[in-house]
Amino acid sequence: MRRSNEERVFDLKRIIVRRLEELDLEARMNWLNSEEIYVNVPIDVPVSLNDTKKWFSQNALNQSRKDFAFVIDEEQGQSLISMSGLVGIDYRNRRAELYMFMNPKFIARGLGTLVLRWLCNYGFTEMGLNKIFLLTVESNSRARTFYERNAFVLEGTLKKHQWHRGKFVDRFIHGLLFSDWKEQTWATEAPPSFEIPILDQK
Ligand SMILES: CC(C)(COP(=O)(O)OP(=O)(O)OC[C@H]1O[C@@H](n2cnc3c(N)ncnc32)[C@H](O)[C@@H]1OP(=O)(O)O)[C@@H](O)C(=O)NCCC(=O)NCCS
Repeated sequence: MRRSNEERVFDLKRIIVRRLEELDLEARMNWLNSEEIYVNVPIDVPVSLNDTKKWFSQNALNQSRKDFAFVIDEEQGQSLISMSGLVGIDYRNRRAELYMFMNPKFIARGLGTLVLRWLCNYGFTEMGLNKIFLLTVESNSRARTFYERNAFVLEGTLKKHQWHRGKFVDRFIHGLLFSDWKEQTWATEAPPSFEIPILDQK
């Protein structure tokens, strides 16, 4: 679904980035239980608040993942727009897997692009990664277009790799190397700040 520029949220000034907190878990459960997300991301639904809390406390000391919450200021207060991060961080090989999902209310409004670019900038500068990769299920061609538009390159197909929504499906693997990332107009030299300015970057 392509939205007009009027529907995009360019009047907002910034996205604030912080670590995922316990206070985000109810929203996380609600988003994961919404069709826009679970159709596109292989998760065991329905997700319960208890399991989400267990998942969060089990990961509290996990050094191999960084989970972020992305927030905007709206008239009625702050709204979470995305929970995304880098997982399976391999410090020896300097690579990590990126995952992303948006608040279903904010999908396709241009904000995911800013979140994705921030995560890449953070991974390559703050963490010194050499490669960021990600997996998509075969039906999620929209996400693949989104990642390819942001310099990720298709590296291969994992055949019938995932049991998803009642059948085995292929998963596609995309990667972004440091050497390709640094050629992007949106790549930052210094680690990015925790406030992302919202400008029309298309
Ligand atoms: C994929 C995702 C993170 C992209 O974030 P976003 O905020 O929707 O992305 P943007 O608005 O910056 O860019 C949207 C573009 O991505 C495409 N897109 C990707 N997924 C889409 C979706 N579920 N609905 C509509 N458009 C989508 C659109 O083609 C759109 O293109 P346009 O700018 O020409 O209209 C987000 O759509 C999402 O959370 N989807 C559901 C979960 C998911 O698929 N996660 C990725 C799993 S690997």
